[in-house]
Amino acid sequence: MHQIKEDLYWVGVKDWELKKFHGYEFTTENGSTYNSYLIKGGKMTVLVDTCWGPFKEQYLEHLDHTVGLGNIDALICQHTETDHSGAMTLLREKRPELPVYCTAKAKQFLESQYHKEWNCVTVKTGDKLDIGGYELTFIEAPMLHWPDSMFTYVGGMAALLSNDAFGQHIATGHLYNDQADQCLLWQEAVKYYANIVSPYAKMVKPKVDQFLGLGLPLEIICPSHGVIWREDPMQIVDRYVEWSSGYKEEQVAIIYDTMWLETRDMAEALGRGVAGAGMTAKVINASKTDETHVMTDAFCSAGILVGSPTVNNGVSVAMASIMEGLKHLKLQGKKGAAFGSYGWSGEAPGILQARLEEAGVEIAGGPFKQLHNPTPEELAKLEEFGRQFAEGLRGA
Ligand code: FEO
Repeated sequence: MHQIKEDLYWVGVKDWELKKFHGYEFTTENGSTYNSYLIKGGKMTVLVDTCWGPFKEQYLEHLDHTVGLGNIDALICQHTETDHSGAMTLLREKRPELPVYCTAKAKQFLESQYHKEWNCVTVKTGDKLDIGGYELTFIEAPMLHWPDSMFTYVGGMAALLSNDAFGQHIATGHLYNDQADQCLLWQEAVKYYANIVSPYAKMVKPKVDQFLGLGLPLEIICPSHGVIWREDPMQIVDRYVEWSSGYKEEQVAIIYDTMWLETRDMAEALGRGVAGAGMTAKVINASKTDETHVMTDAFCSAGILVGSPTVNNGVSVAMASIMEGLKHLKLQGKKGAAFGSYGWSGEAPGILQARLEEAGVEIAGGPFKQLHNPTPEELAKLEEFGRQFAEGLRGA
């Protein structure tokens, strides 16, 4: 239990050893935290979110020891994904009558995930709860990042409890953004945004505008993962608005797979051209690179070049997975092209180009099909395309 402000406490769990999240989809090399908060009002003591199921016993034991489960008057469930609701069934066994404040969709999701009745009090945007000395305002945040998500603003503390929004998968000895390694913090924040929030980018700015329109003071943002934004909390809000508005850096992600290094030679030639134009080239072997990082690099890039050898009339399995991942991100404002070597039929570059289009990427050349090994002259042509492609991105 750690005091954040007078009457606001962190009662969460640090998961230092977590290396994969969302099953095995999302890598979390730096662990994560399941942030849970306790607000002590004059009339009510309120718990906000819980933790992932494997930690439920230790979480509730600690809460019972430090607060007393009988002293909690209500639970606010901001989002039912199991990393935040995983201790709720055990809490319900001990406190079956405990009111659970949540959205209507969260009520449905609790019932369908846990097959139990909950003492839910459903709330909508603008609904308030006076807990004595502090007034909670609920703000629905559908698709940030689930349909059930909501935020809770604590009036009298100028605190926004934002659940998954503004989070990062980091377990550190610290609780606050100003104490964290800034390089690591921002790497993890953008990785989290790209892989979790980017598919719902259209929801970000309207929700930020809605919140700012309320004209509420804001001193601290408490997300459900990672560090708490107490130093200049608007910095992460501003970055979310920037990231959700067709974000791109002067960078090209060249993502490929290769069987006998022919497609790799093509990727490297393209990379030389991009670098020759003064733009950062990230040449990434998809079958050897963590996909969460590949998605982050693609999200941050102005251009995306994808390559695969033709394998059994299709693309490599690694690139098929990458293309599905890119489609999920709902990319905005990116340009791209496809390439790849072949020996017999040569379908892969055309398939990749179609998948790029499905992912919302504007095609800016190609597809480049290469019969077996590229000659020095053919590599020079690819390098020249890489240079022109990068220069075209600058003007876009
Ligand atoms: Fe952190 Fe959507 O759960």
